[in-house]
Amino acid sequence: MGEYVKVATLSDLPPGTARTVEVRGASIALYNADGVVCATANTCPHRGGPLGEGELAAGVITCPWHGFQYEVRTGKCLTNAALSVGCHRARVDGQDILVEV
Ligand code: FES
Repeated sequence: MGEYVKVATLSDLPPGTARTVEVRGASIALYNADGVVCATANTCPHRGGPLGEGELAAGVITCPWHGFQYEVRTGKCLTNAALSVGCHRARVDGQDILVEV
């Protein structure tokens, strides 16, 4: 069981956006999928692209390097069924976004 760490506030992450945060040496991609905040590892399992810098639409992040797509709530890759990205639990407490690490 990990510990929840504050990584951002809701004003940093408007609905429909993604960003990258560094938490205790880990690079994590944060998403606001139309009001649902979730998090995955930042590293795309294809070739290591930064998912937090991708385009988020309808709960799907598109990797900025080669366009592979992942469901941000499950980490499932929609482009190659053999791939998935690890998820982190995320929650909102007031204005704060916390991620389990
Ligand atoms: S590194 Fe993400 S699609 Fe290639």
